[in-house]
Amino acid sequence: MQFDTDSSTPDDVVARAAELRDEINRANRLYYVEDAPELDDAEWDGRMQELLALEAAHPEIQSPDSPTQRVGAPPSAGFDEVVHPIPMLSLGNVFDEDGFRAWYKRALDFLELESAPMVCELKIDGLALAITYRNGVMERAATRGDGERGEDVTANVRTIRSVPLKLEGNANDIPPVMELRGEVFLPNSKFATLNEEREEAGLPAYVNPRNSASGSLRQLDSTETAKRPLDMFFYALGYIEGAQEPSSHSEALEAIKGWGGRTNEWTRKANTVEEVMAAIANAGEVRDSLDYGIDGVVIKIDSLSLQRRLGFVGRDPRWAIAYKFPAEQAETTLKAIHVNVGRTGALTPWAELDPVVVGGVTVGRATLHNKDEIARKDFREGDRVVIQRAGDVIPQVVEVSAKNKRSDDSQPYAFPDNCPSCETPTVQTEDEAVTRCVNTTCPAQFERLLEHFASRVAMDIEGLGERVSQDLPRLGFVSSIADIYRLHERKDDLLELDKMGETRVDNLLKGIEASRSQPLPKLLFALGITGIGSESAEWLSRRFRSLSGVKDATEEELLAIDGIGPVVATTLVDYFAIEQNRQLIDDLIELGVNPIDDTPEPSADHPANGVTFVVTGRLETMSRSEAQNRIKSLGGKATGSVTGKTNFLVAGAEAGSKLDKANRLNVHVINETEFIAFMEESVVPSRPESPDSADA
Ligand code: IVH
Repeated sequence: MQFDTDSSTPDDVVARAAELRDEINRANRLYYVEDAPELDDAEWDGRMQELLALEAAHPEIQSPDSPTQRVGAPPSAGFDEVVHPIPMLSLGNVFDEDGFRAWYKRALDFLELESAPMVCELKIDGLALAITYRNGVMERAATRGDGERGEDVTANVRTIRSVPLKLEGNANDIPPVMELRGEVFLPNSKFATLNEEREEAGLPAYVNPRNSASGSLRQLDSTETAKRPLDMFFYALGYIEGAQEPSSHSEALEAIKGWGGRTNEWTRKANTVEEVMAAIANAGEVRDSLDYGIDGVVIKIDSLSLQRRLGFVGRDPRWAIAYKFPAEQAETTLKAIHVNVGRTGALTPWAELDPVVVGGVTVGRATLHNKDEIARKDFREGDRVVIQRAGDVIPQVVEVSAKNKRSDDSQPYAFPDNCPSCETPTVQTEDEAVTRCVNTTCPAQFERLLEHFASRVAMDIEGLGERVSQDLPRLGFVSSIADIYRLHERKDDLLELDKMGETRVDNLLKGIEASRSQPLPKLLFALGITGIGSESAEWLSRRFRSLSGVKDATEEELLAIDGIGPVVATTLVDYFAIEQNRQLIDDLIELGVNPIDDTPEPSADHPANGVTFVVTGRLETMSRSEAQNRIKSLGGKATGSVTGKTNFLVAGAEAGSKLDKANRLNVHVINETEFIAFMEESVVPSRPESPDSADA
């Protein structure tokens, strides 16, 4: 990532900020878009805090595209998009009494008050939902998404028992239009059973209850959601129309309860810092006895008029704060250090541990991040180490324990110089923390490629997860991607396989069969070609229409596609120059995995045809993605960043850096009204006279 810097900024600050931004962006995407979190909450928070501190200390490195400037990532395809009438923002964090005191003092100073009553609530570790009721009847349920726009999951939420489909009570007491907000979760006690059933069916297990709640809520088939015992606590009133708001948050909670919505019974009022601290201590005590995960306590100023006065600072309300529980830690022995090889050849080290219980979960392995981290912290096999688990995702090794005793012959860990899978010497480029295996025929990389090919965001083959992706090549069933479409001929051999019962094999073969009808962009993305993401896969698909079309594309043709630059064009040409890859395409075609993109060519006579747009800011009558779809359906291009090739910037409210850049590059900026006239009535906006010519 690049950003403006001042020559006085130390290089290591610039590099670290870039690294943090990349890590956070990647984590956000995995978390919000792919439901496959890689960092746990504490790791994410740690990186965010460090980045915020770096940007505060070096304002010159701040940039509008830094993840500190936004709340999350956009929703994934599959559900309709919902624009939240009031954004669903996040909460600031404090970790100790001093932090809490400072937050409370800031709020009181802001209000010029001596004290303000508060409400303490458990911070439920699930997923935020906003549910709209019209005349007491549930109309729509939306996930938080990136805070501005979420996904319409109404059909799924209707299946949750504790969510009222119709509110109870006197119709006069129910606001005509109202949004209730809260947290959906999967009870801990149901989590284990759900995973057992999944294993049984040959599906990958969910890593934690939070993840399974998210996966369950985002099922495209709501009958599937109905089978999951999801539950929900309401914690706030959102948007409200046609009625007086209550005067306090606690009254709102009472009202929600009266309407039949489930609120959390632990909730309590507090008037002083001492009372809040006592409540937090109590929450820590009851935590293990609850049937749902909590990761802290949320403290809110009770009065809604005070909340309005306090407002927001950046993405966090001034009127509420999350007091986060410390990450749960434990000590154990680091039995061995192992190294995994990723799809692109990246080597990532992990620790095999003497199993130990941390926060109610037995942990036997934990991440060690990368080669440099091991060297910096001097982790050695046999060491006594501190491990921690927070937000429940991937446990990590924090440090060598103070009590560790090393024998005289203890040696620093030597990171492998050769790939642990294929023995090829590894490479570490100067600008990367990552060590790589660069052998394109490395078996470990192939296993990862298979896993990627089958993943939900690619060909979505149920039953072909991590384990099966390893077993199939190792047992000689699959040595090229195309081989998976030959597996049905070997059903009997598959049945011989250990742990592959009839159901699993059937599910796997069914999943593979179903994937044949995935559209071309998914297939192109699934091939895992460096630089080809889901968006560029779509461009390729639209332009070349078939696998063979893409295979034979020339560099010149590729470069003519807006959005494809010289690096990606060269990578693609190089990829298809390799005989093995050409063979793969031919095999897929022969096996009938040959989707054709027959999206009709947009009518050539609309003036938007062939014109490049960037849409930015908040539009009034449509979402940004609706606007982009509109452009594409008329043959225009909707790209993400303003460049010299951009013809129009459509600027909605609060347009930021893209607007600045468009002005700098003299790109024609149009508003929403002009945009609609352009799309609907083919009125091409004309540029205002420049001041010079007006003067003349
Ligand atoms: S209030 C303006 N109350 O925590 C912020 N949030 O870190 C309104 N959460 O996205 C949020 N329990 O999903 C609130 N009792 C509670 C909560 C809670 C869990 C989640 C919520 C939010 C996240 C913010």
